[in-house]
Amino acid sequence: MPAAPSTPWPRWDHHKLTYGGDYNPEQWPAEVWTEDVRLMQEAGVNLVSVGIFSWALLQPAADRYEFGWLDRVVDLLHGGGIAVDLATASASPPPWFSRLHPESLPVDRVGTTLRSGGRQAFCPSSAAYRDAAVALTEALAAHFGAHPALAMWHVHNEYGCHNALCYCDASAGAFRRWLQRRYGDIDTLNQAWGTAFWSQHYYDWDEIAPARATASFTNPTQLLDFRRFSSDELLDCYRAERDVLHRVTPGVPVTTNFMAPNFKDLDYWAWGAEMDFVSNDHYLRGQFDQPHVDLALGADMTRSLAGGAPWLLMEHSTSAVNWQPVNVAKVPGQLRRNSLSHVARGADGVMYFQWRAAKAGAEKFHSAMVPHAGTGTKVWDEVVELGRNLEAIAEVVGSRVEADVAILFDWNAWWAVEESCLPSAEVRYLDQARAMHTALWQAGVTCDLAHPEGDLSGYRLVLVPTLYLVTDAGAVNVEAFVAGGGAAVVTYFSGIVDQDEHIRLGGYPGAFRSMLGVRSEEFFPLVPGKQVALSDGTSGEVWSELMATDGAETVVAYADGPLSGGPAITRNSHGEGTAWYVTTRLPAAALSGFLAQVTAASGVVPAADTVPGVEVVRRSNGAGASYLFAINHTGSAATVSGSGTDLLTGEDHVGQVAVAAGSVVVIRESGRRES
Ligand code: GAL
Repeated sequence: MPAAPSTPWPRWDHHKLTYGGDYNPEQWPAEVWTEDVRLMQEAGVNLVSVGIFSWALLQPAADRYEFGWLDRVVDLLHGGGIAVDLATASASPPPWFSRLHPESLPVDRVGTTLRSGGRQAFCPSSAAYRDAAVALTEALAAHFGAHPALAMWHVHNEYGCHNALCYCDASAGAFRRWLQRRYGDIDTLNQAWGTAFWSQHYYDWDEIAPARATASFTNPTQLLDFRRFSSDELLDCYRAERDVLHRVTPGVPVTTNFMAPNFKDLDYWAWGAEMDFVSNDHYLRGQFDQPHVDLALGADMTRSLAGGAPWLLMEHSTSAVNWQPVNVAKVPGQLRRNSLSHVARGADGVMYFQWRAAKAGAEKFHSAMVPHAGTGTKVWDEVVELGRNLEAIAEVVGSRVEADVAILFDWNAWWAVEESCLPSAEVRYLDQARAMHTALWQAGVTCDLAHPEGDLSGYRLVLVPTLYLVTDAGAVNVEAFVAGGGAAVVTYFSGIVDQDEHIRLGGYPGAFRSMLGVRSEEFFPLVPGKQVALSDGTSGEVWSELMATDGAETVVAYADGPLSGGPAITRNSHGEGTAWYVTTRLPAAALSGFLAQVTAASGVVPAADTVPGVEVVRRSNGAGASYLFAINHTGSAATVSGSGTDLLTGEDHVGQVAVAAGSVVVIRESGRRES
């Protein structure tokens, strides 16, 4: 077995994948705690997150902390060989705090104050909240910092989950200060916000408010800046706690759990850079036909936010959640497929919400590792089996996922393209990114997500879905990538506005016009249900545009409607590379066909030859070992290409690997050189 490289969370056994979940012992009598530790050992659990929602019990009053009960829990866990991911508990201020500081409560866009009684009842800009959170963090760090069970710090919980955008007076003041730092003087702000429009000119900073409810459409750049500010404001909260932890407990890694890929409110590129290591929470969503592909998108995004380094899945569910209209239970085998898919995509550990199913509270119908029915259940048996599986594949720890393709992704573009008053409300930001990711997933091609201004040099192909807003630096970066020999695919409504949301004039898509060799003059969005025929026999939906080539060749033309005969998909040689422009939304089959051509032309190959529904991903450790994960999400047996030993069964495979219906194989590959 190759030597395991060091992990980013170094305080315990480097050779293990992390396994565990959120543990809320305060909801149970102490007798249950002993049983919990015994069951954790049985399941192979080696880390639990403790104290996430314990503020009210850790601090009964403003002048008093009570850590005794948590001492007992942490000692007990340590005695059982379970490490602790200790939360700073700042996610849910207690009711006494809200009573003492009513001004700390969040206020929504129309001015309604949101009260305590749920969780996250605070305004991110509240000085009282920030002071109390930092003080609690400092007290916890001083008290538990030297405990041998402490493996890492879990700051807060899912920042912004319920209170990312607050419109109270404290937020207004903080927003003004943020704007002063960004623009320096008010004329520059007036310019950036385009306030010559609708009599919006500002003469004094105090005239500016957060993007509160307005009678008509709100200034779009104000909305965009308010989102930027709100993400930064919560990041400041994180930094304040993290800095305390770094000072008091140097060497103990610090993280907070993200919610990729579906969380819009935080610019996770900015956040990722501030983590000691990145962690994520992912839950399957009933609205998707293939929720495991959304899982893969979340995992690929998380790995990318971590700069390719191993990351930790902080939460997912063993079965149903409690917060969707219908909370669908996982079928036998699905728990294992889901968890190992995260590992395949770079996670060095998988954790659940939560250890023991709650008996009371809003989450009492949420699944857990120990269900209401206890052990001897489908869920418990699968939890124990997964623990054994993670031990069997432990040598993948520290290895990394290979990707030749990147999808450009930017929260600024997401925020801007989903405002009002755009050509079509049918254009949603995640739609094209998800569609492209799904097409690659089906083909067995692994991709990263990348920031438009990020380093693209390691990729053969860059996909640019609906990047409505792109900075000058981002546009130059993509252009340089193509000029240097890369391939790019840009889809409709990309490169339209600059960072202030001002149109790039002279023809669309302004930022990418010369790279694409086209000039588009007018959008022809399609109403829901309407399609436009294309010359290759496929069709487009959602979008079309009146465009002329300017150096590019037309690969596919519109075949009916007002644009008939005009270019729909173009290809342009630019410098040493090639840039495609797709002016309409291709339905899934057509998009898969198109991307198959583009990947082949760009020299991109799948991790293995596979069939639809069988996920294939490779991790390599840089020291000659590589691991092929094949996850069969279908109801039929399948075969993928590959050679080596299945770490789960010990079986050897030569050339072909059989993957039973619903099953997973993890092959330590033989005869393969790392690329
Ligand atoms: C997460 C959260 C957990 C729990 C879980 C339920 O968003 O971090 O505390 O609420 O959802 O799915």
